[in-house]
Amino acid sequence: MEHSIYGDHLPEMQALLDQIMEGLGGLRKQMTEQYGSDPVEHCLARIKSEESMREKCRRKGLPETPESALTKIHDAIGIRVVCAFLSDVYRIRDFLISYENAEIYEEKDYIRHVKPNGYRSYHMILLFNKKYYVEFQLRTISMDTWAALEHQIKYKHDVHGNEDLIVSELKRCADELASTDVSMQTIRDMIFEENARNQ
Ligand code: GTP
Ligand code: MG
Repeated sequence: MEHSIYGDHLPEMQALLDQIMEGLGGLRKQMTEQYGSDPVEHCLARIKSEESMREKCRRKGLPETPESALTKIHDAIGIRVVCAFLSDVYRIRDFLISYENAEIYEEKDYIRHVKPNGYRSYHMILLFNKKYYVEFQLRTISMDTWAALEHQIKYKHDVHGNEDLIVSELKRCADELASTDVSMQTIRDMIFEENARNQ
């Protein structure tokens, strides 16, 4: 059998992923008790497949080695957390940075600094135990829906000809969804305050 691009690190990577997911599970439970609802709609965790990692190394002109996969590329371990509300995204973020064995390697707030195409998400790469990078993508359900559709349209279809129109319509959808996210957050806050007053 061909050697894994991750060398013999896979069991440790899997254990770290499990540990983070367990931590998130604990936070969800605690927040559900505190606020009455689960901040996380769903969560996807994965170790990049052998084939995708090799492809990414080639694309970036890196040798296909554990060193490239674990130190030059930072999304071998990836976790996407999809939240019901905007405020939950930042709560999850605050929880993640409180891990004592992790340091922030990179933070990109595409929610406050929206990409020109309308893409929104909070990206963060944490370095765990000075050894493994983990990429987090935190977003709301609306942002997740948009990203999935945009990805599909961009990669699965030939959009030559009316490309400008497609790009601007996608941007418009992203902005409309973002404004709905703000309204939903306002409604949620109103209900939360009302409940707090009645307690
Ligand atoms: P990498 O070399 O892949 O690490 O690129 P980068 O560091 O420039 O990536 P960035 O942090 O901006 O984005 C990483 C991931 O976010 C991508 O692999 C996608 O999953 C997602 N992403 C970023 N931009 C977009 C976008 O415009 N549309 C969609 N659908 N997903 C995006
Ligand atoms: Mg990146």
